[in-house]
Amino acid sequence: MKDLLRQRTSLKEQIEILLNNQVKMEAEASAKYLAMASWCDRNGYKHSAAYFLRQADEERKHMLRIFNYLLTVGGTAVSPAISEVQHEYPSFRSVFETALQSEINVTTSINRIVTASRAEEDYATENFLQWFVNEQIEEEDNARRALELFDVIGEEGTGRYQIDKAVGKLNSDEE
Ligand code: FEO
Repeated sequence: MKDLLRQRTSLKEQIEILLNNQVKMEAEASAKYLAMASWCDRNGYKHSAAYFLRQADEERKHMLRIFNYLLTVGGTAVSPAISEVQHEYPSFRSVFETALQSEINVTTSINRIVTASRAEEDYATENFLQWFVNEQIEEEDNARRALELFDVIGEEGTGRYQIDKAVGKLNSDEE
């Protein structure tokens, strides 16, 4: 049955697997950002909580974009299981360090799928992924700028309060 279905699409099984892995990674990113929003909120960083809520929303849109692509090209899209999410962080700053590392991991993963698509001569998928290549520039930039605020403003005195306010503005004008 599966082989029969596969004959009706040019999507290679390896690419389908990689795309489903990316669906899962985006869903996990969304869940991770929700946990970060929760941590920030209960530690008094309301603007950062709003920032991470918006990021969580973005990640869900990323997930759906790939999910829908799989449907469009005749693949099987898999609704992802989310593993245990980290809810505790040692410090305000460490939340943003984790966020930046996650974004770098996503960029690496997207790049790997682009490479695999090209190797399989799947130019439709390679083309589809260009949106993500561009999006990751912005995603990493936001995460890096958030982290830079810790160095620029400093955490002493009212520093964390100022950092929180500045973080809230970072992604507030994105759709
Ligand atoms: Fe979907 Fe933040 O990468």
